[in-house]
Amino acid sequence: SIVFLNDSFMPMEQAKISPMDRGFLFGDGIYEVIPSYDTKLVGFAPHIARMQEGLELIGIKLDWNVDKWREVVESLIEKNGGGNLGIYLHVSRGNDGKRSHAYPENVAPTIYAFAFDIPAATVADKTITKTYKVNSTEDLRWKRCHIKSTALLGNVMHFQQGFTDGCNETLLFNANNELTEASSSNAYIVKDGVITTPPLDNQILPGITRLILLDILAKDGSLKVEERVVTMDEVENADEIWLTSSSKEVAPVIEFNGKQVGNGEIGNVWLTAQTLYSAGKY
Ligand code: PDD
Repeated sequence: SIVFLNDSFMPMEQAKISPMDRGFLFGDGIYEVIPSYDTKLVGFAPHIARMQEGLELIGIKLDWNVDKWREVVESLIEKNGGGNLGIYLHVSRGNDGKRSHAYPENVAPTIYAFAFDIPAATVADKTITKTYKVNSTEDLRWKRCHIKSTALLGNVMHFQQGFTDGCNETLLFNANNELTEASSSNAYIVKDGVITTPPLDNQILPGITRLILLDILAKDGSLKVEERVVTMDEVENADEIWLTSSSKEVAPVIEFNGKQVGNGEIGNVWLTAQTLYSAGKY
């Protein structure tokens, strides 16, 4: 595949960075994943805005505006043949030839972007949609989960916990047994027709799929949505559980900690929500 590194496009095999890059040594960087279906990007502007906020929060100075990012992303899609692609963007603090904790001055950030295949856009159809089995664990990541940091070891370890138990995601709960999110997705429950998702704070990533979905649901107005604390007890007794992320869209969970969710089948509220999301996401 063709990738972008710093200022040019090249075959992935030719993309080389220094092992002294702080992204490699410290996980010192910010990333994004933007979905693109048949060259149509979902949430491009909010994805770039979140990345710029992340860079600001960790003090990486990069003078790229949204048009510059759009130019690179659109070229990357074109050079990789369109189709259904996730666009990965990564900015690390760069490399000053040392390993010192202090932020170096006057060092150019390393900018890397590549495209990878993602599943076709979800069709709101209960008979063909991929379902998820999840288990749960205490959220042992850091207290800055709102920053989309490339340092993902905490997330990776949580994902792996579920994976080794035969699950395809792990729901995370803080020390008060309140739901935060999943290892690589935001999380929702549905009870008696009401959709509830944890509020945005430092315990979760402000997902762009979450942002777009909540916006669509608010405009539509037919489903009730609450952003508030969700307890373990509520998750255990939910009629439906969903996950969202850029590659999953709205994904139904049918098993939680070895027990079926609701009647063990994809729920009707999911069907309505994914139908609205499919129609409104661009
Ligand atoms: N994951 N929470 C976490 C911890 C995530 O890593 C992600 C995304 C989300 C959902 O965010 P969004 O809707 O903006 O994709 C929530 C990406 C896709 C990843 O790391 O591959």
